[in-house]
Amino acid sequence: MAILVTGGAGYIGCHTCLELLDAGYDVIVIDNFSNSHPESLRRVMEITGKKLTVYSLDLLDKKSLETVFQQNQIEAVIHFAGLKAVGESVLFPLSYYQTNILSTVNLCEMMKRYDVKHFVFSSSATVYGIPEQVPICEKASLRANNPYGRTKRMIEEILRDLFQSDPNWSIALLRYFNPIGAHESGKIGENPKEIPNNLMPYITQVAIGKLQVLSIYGNDYPTRDGTGIRDYIHVVDLAKGHVKALEKMMTTTGVETYNLGTGKGYSVLELVAAFEKVSGLKIPYKIVERRPGDIAASFADVSKAKRELGWVASKGIEEMCRDAWKWQTQNPYGYESRKEQ
Ligand code: UFG
Repeated sequence: MAILVTGGAGYIGCHTCLELLDAGYDVIVIDNFSNSHPESLRRVMEITGKKLTVYSLDLLDKKSLETVFQQNQIEAVIHFAGLKAVGESVLFPLSYYQTNILSTVNLCEMMKRYDVKHFVFSSSATVYGIPEQVPICEKASLRANNPYGRTKRMIEEILRDLFQSDPNWSIALLRYFNPIGAHESGKIGENPKEIPNNLMPYITQVAIGKLQVLSIYGNDYPTRDGTGIRDYIHVVDLAKGHVKALEKMMTTTGVETYNLGTGKGYSVLELVAAFEKVSGLKIPYKIVERRPGDIAASFADVSKAKRELGWVASKGIEEMCRDAWKWQTQNPYGYESRKEQ
């Protein structure tokens, strides 16, 4: 019996594969490598000393997808595959709806056909949009304000409908806050293809000299220092959360949502300060206009995950910075051995 991980070569996917292998599961990965690199999976095998099976295919290709279900005894699915850039989703909404929603429908159809009904879905705190209050609990209203976030919200609804149609399904909807950091080995980590949109990889690329200066998007938010507050979570803690959710889904039926965060918020300036402390470097920054669509503060109420999954994030902000920096310094060009021209 094996766990199928879609998008398993991506940032959160490969860290989760590693935790699954360490926990003794057989792992099968499907990835189309559109925004990921097979090297991440090779390194997961190197770190764990265990093998996983990799299929290079697209979930929109139903025929190939079916062969994976025919060739393997799949017990449960963790579904990461999908497009994930907020700004890009505003420019190309149709490709987000096509890729994220249709691929999930195909996957669920195949699961239904092969009677695989344990499902863990990679959702996002972005489904909350501008929160009414912080910390955000799972019952908060869903007001995603961009196409990417709406695909996540719609998929959550599709999965609820699926459960309504057949109560034998067990589905966990995991709403991540802001994953950062890397595996402590420094061998796998976040590998943005272009100039990073997210704060942590931007900071590490400034630190290593690939980028000149960090732009901080606004210091006039109603927060303690005026910069945006987020709930940063170490990607290894997040990966462990998936294993906990999977274990729970194997023993129950139903649809449950879980916030995966630390429950603590840090401002942009606080994250910069933590990174400077850990690395011993100064990060040059300038304050610029707010980024459209950004919110002042977002952090999680994590009590449900603690209560029902027995999971809490254990790694603090300095460990997140240390591991992100280790990954960046050991892999200045990510998974490429040298800079692509
Ligand atoms: N920020 C900067 N400069 C940068 C990048 C970010 O000041 O160069 C600030 C942002 O304004 C924000 C904070 O740093 O206050 C975090 O920004 P990120 O882009 O790292 O993360 P977001 O919270 O905007 O979004 C992330 C993911 C989304 C996901 C969301 C979940 O990118 O995909 O978290 O809440 F949906």
